[in-house]
Amino acid sequence: MNIERLRDDFPVLRQTVHGRPLVYLDNAATTHKPQSVIDRLVSFYSERNSSAHRSAHTLAQAAGTDYENARVCVQEFLNAPSSSEIVFTSGATDSINLVASAFRDDIIRPNDEVVISAMEHHSNLVPWQLACSRAAASIRVIPLDETGGLQVDTMERLMNPHTRLVAVTHVSNVTGIVNPLPEIISIAHSHDVPVLIDGSQAAPHMGIDVTALDCDFYVFSGHKIYSETGIGVLYGKHRWLEALPPFRSGGGMLTTVTLEKSKLEAPPLRFEAGTQNVAGALGLEAALAYLSNVGLKRIGKHEEELLRRLESGLRTMDGVMVYGDVDSRCGSLSFNISGAHHTDVGMVLDRLGIAVRTGAHCAQPYVRAIAGEGTIRASVGLYNTAREIDDLLAAVEMARALLC
Ligand code: ALA
Repeated sequence: MNIERLRDDFPVLRQTVHGRPLVYLDNAATTHKPQSVIDRLVSFYSERNSSAHRSAHTLAQAAGTDYENARVCVQEFLNAPSSSEIVFTSGATDSINLVASAFRDDIIRPNDEVVISAMEHHSNLVPWQLACSRAAASIRVIPLDETGGLQVDTMERLMNPHTRLVAVTHVSNVTGIVNPLPEIISIAHSHDVPVLIDGSQAAPHMGIDVTALDCDFYVFSGHKIYSETGIGVLYGKHRWLEALPPFRSGGGMLTTVTLEKSKLEAPPLRFEAGTQNVAGALGLEAALAYLSNVGLKRIGKHEEELLRRLESGLRTMDGVMVYGDVDSRCGSLSFNISGAHHTDVGMVLDRLGIAVRTGAHCAQPYVRAIAGEGTIRASVGLYNTAREIDDLLAAVEMARALLC
């Protein structure tokens, strides 16, 4: 990959922070947008702006067609059998809340159980806590092993006739550990239990094939995959979307309405009440087209090499702990410097133009279990370079000298 050429596509990277070239390593929080995504949003609002699926006039018809074409693009990106299995949401959090609320209302009963893992982001933990609490059900947890990964071999013992769903992340947003989804899905399915995968930290880095995975739900966010905030995706198998009640209600999700009752549209429109985020869907389509042009395999390989370079550099430094003892990582790596607070390290790095995230990364139970209060997390994207990793390593040395 010609990274320097690709970097030219991202205007935000052409800036200095505190007089230094910006080194952006907070991609797990949000990615920057290529010019093609920005142009798509500008062209929608300056040329086509209209509400989809409402009016017969030319602009509205075009908005509806463009919106549905974007849905087909997401279907192809995920290798989903049908575009009617793709629901546009405001992000992965919204997608998970949609499923959690539907399960809470229709499926989870008192004494039932939902299985999650000990490495979940709060957005794939708290919706299940609330759903279980409302339904008088409980959460069961796939525990961690000594490497920071999941003890999937204990999962069989967590499954029973009361298990209603397994909800796990594809990739940890803290350590970049990739979970063995085929094994997890196969255990759940052997008990006739559906599986929801939080793909927020996987979709930007690897090809996703929901048909091969055979998961029941897969979610991701637009803003973590080079598109904008406010757009996300829920893939759901047709039989599930057909069976679940809508999360919210309003215009656009009904076929007939009387003052007494309403008849719901078929999925996916059933789950998209209100004016759809057409610009968001088009921006996401442009981002997925960009990724497909560059090639997700090449992106994944490049990012893995960057993380290997970072990890081997950090592991040579005295007093630096890297979390997660695995051969390869996807997207993110967390570490700490013994004797230095992670926030202080983050502030030193910022003064050197380097953007990382510090703290518990919205995954408090996981971070508490593997690292204590917080970590310093570097997360890579397709535009990061080996030189930037070397800049980070030099900056960590400097922070260590200053703070310890
Ligand atoms: N989930 C995002 C992160 O891990 C915000 O940083």
